[in-house]
Amino acid sequence: MPLADCRIIDLPKIMDQRGNLTFVEGGNHVPFDIKRVYYLYDVPGGSDRGEHAHKTLHQFVICMSGSFDILLDDGFKTTKYHLNRSYFGVYICPMTWRYLDNFSSGSVCMVLASAPYDETDYIRDRDEFLKAVGAA
Ligand code: TYD
Repeated sequence: MPLADCRIIDLPKIMDQRGNLTFVEGGNHVPFDIKRVYYLYDVPGGSDRGEHAHKTLHQFVICMSGSFDILLDDGFKTTKYHLNRSYFGVYICPMTWRYLDNFSSGSVCMVLASAPYDETDYIRDRDEFLKAVGAA
């Protein structure tokens, strides 16, 4: 899937004086069924995460608190997003290298994923990724 398919997706926002509410429906707001949710928290300021791709997994990344940057790369082109609100997120297609950095102290990053955890779906070696996408 090309990097162009990865994108910012705005989520519904129900504004209320008691506090705002946002929701995400699999197959509606994100283009996959949600099979797993995980989150990064207690992240020290300046940390970085990611540095891998997934062969088949679709993901949607939301910044629930604080801020961080996410760099996406299909082996040919890169796109960088700054996430700092919980009413939008970044959809990451399969075969996209991702690198998350510039976390503000105490950030919370929530990820919705299309499948349960499977280490065999990861590509953690950069050269292997570049070969797989035909960029090396
Ligand atoms: P990893 O996906 O490499 O983290 P990040 O991309 O945020 O740097 O996962 C870190 C560790 O956690 C790794 O040992 C695999 C494990 N893990 C699970 O057991 N289940 C999960 O759902 C996830 C996302 C990771």
